Amino acid sequence: MNTVTPSPRSVTVRAPAKVNCELRVGPMGSDGFHELSTVFMAVGLFDEVTVTRSDRWSVTTTGPYAAHVPDGDDNLAVRAARLLARHMRVPRAAVSIRIDKVIPVAGGMAGGSADAAAVLVACDHLWGLRMDREELLYLAAELGSDVPFCLAGGIAIGSGRGERLAPVLARGTYHWVFALSSEGLSTPSVFAEFDRQTAGSRIPQPEPSPAMMTALRSGDPEALGDALINDLQEPALSLRPGLRAVLDAGMEFGALGGIVSGSGPTVAFLTGSSEHALDLCVALTASGVVDQVTRAKGPVHGAQVLAGPSRD
Ligand code: C5P
Repeated sequence: MNTVTPSPRSVTVRAPAKVNCELRVGPMGSDGFHELSTVFMAVGLFDEVTVTRSDRWSVTTTGPYAAHVPDGDDNLAVRAARLLARHMRVPRAAVSIRIDKVIPVAGGMAGGSADAAAVLVACDHLWGLRMDREELLYLAAELGSDVPFCLAGGIAIGSGRGERLAPVLARGTYHWVFALSSEGLSTPSVFAEFDRQTAGSRIPQPEPSPAMMTALRSGDPEALGDALINDLQEPALSLRPGLRAVLDAGMEFGALGGIVSGSGPTVAFLTGSSEHALDLCVALTASGVVDQVTRAKGPVHGAQVLAGPSRD
């Protein structure tokens, strides 16, 4: 017997932040993007995004970062919904998008990309498209270098602009502490500073390091702590010199490793257990060098529909 599934009126999806355990930056290509080799890990800080059928397009953001998120057509979440609607020729596609924002804005943790990934998954559900994963990943890459990974989650190698994903053999759960800054850093300006610092030198082709692959395969947080590396760290530190004191404080308080996350300014510290992570949060908060501290485990899943969409 055929049953007609009523179409949902709204769908909520949550999508994770990322940290780059390794970020090697190669030369800039003719498209203006740098060739990357990166190891992404999705971590348990999630934005929740709800899309609801509507007669006009709109986006609203709640949470502590709401004031920093654009509310027009340049919002990446709106662009994601419009791109999917155009690509699949969805009639009367207008949706209102509500973003409950937990991931810092312009923090080097793929906050905007997570929202775009969430919207792709949510609209796919809302409109009953049942798109296959490859097609969603293709559209995600059109929106931004980190969007495919926010769809995929887990741990993955990113190459190209960061959008081409390959699996990594990894085990273990990792306990991170994130030192957040109250003011973001623009990704293009950090890449521009990288170009300035490396001008005139030959930049090698970026590739994953054996130390990182071995660390992830072993599941040993000490080995991972030692293997953390980010070519955007020096550029981010030169634009935000105060971050050096944050890195120093975390290491002094016993982190297994510390790194600027992506293009920053978030600083990520690896610890050995959830107790260790809590201790480090307390110590960093007390030190006064950090604006705000939070902790999260990784790896976690990519963008996922939350149970119980409301229906007409
Ligand atoms: O792809 P996404 O929109 O996240 O990139 C933001 C900016 O970061 C780009 O416009 C570019 O300036 C810089 N970028 C880069 N090389 C990459 C990824 C990003 O230069 N592989």
